[in-house]
Amino acid sequence: MYSKKVMQYFLHPKNVGEIKNPSGVGEVGNIVCGDVMKLYIKVKSDIIKDIKFKTLGCAAAIATSSIITEIAKNKKIEDALKISKEEIIKSLGGLPPVKIHCSVLAVDALKEAIYDYLKKSKREIPIDLKKNHERIEKEKKIIEKMYGKIKR
Ligand code: FES
Repeated sequence: MYSKKVMQYFLHPKNVGEIKNPSGVGEVGNIVCGDVMKLYIKVKSDIIKDIKFKTLGCAAAIATSSIITEIAKNKKIEDALKISKEEIIKSLGGLPPVKIHCSVLAVDALKEAIYDYLKKSKREIPIDLKKNHERIEKEKKIIEKMYGKIKR
């Protein structure tokens, strides 16, 4: 059973959509279910000034995507990178155990958007972020084999 907050964010998601000329875009697929999420960030002076998402996924995926945009907005990128799935789940008043994997989608998408921003701005990419990116790329290939090409 979903918490009241999950239902609230699922039924009235915040920051849905795209950003024109984003500073970074993160696109991830969930290896457990094949759902996908795209997250856009606009960064100024290393602060996430705007953030939007599009998610093709379940209620938990939409709620976690939505709440991560609120948590990450106006954060410095180094602080946004510290947002964990545990923090997201707690902010939503919990998730059913079978839905925990859905929260990973939002955290990974944000990390990928920051990775993209750093790469585009030819900045040094922290090793953990690089490793995370490599894992996501591998998973995307597996997902494409299992569920077909991720629409870009
Ligand atoms: Fe796929 Fe939730 S079941 S993200």
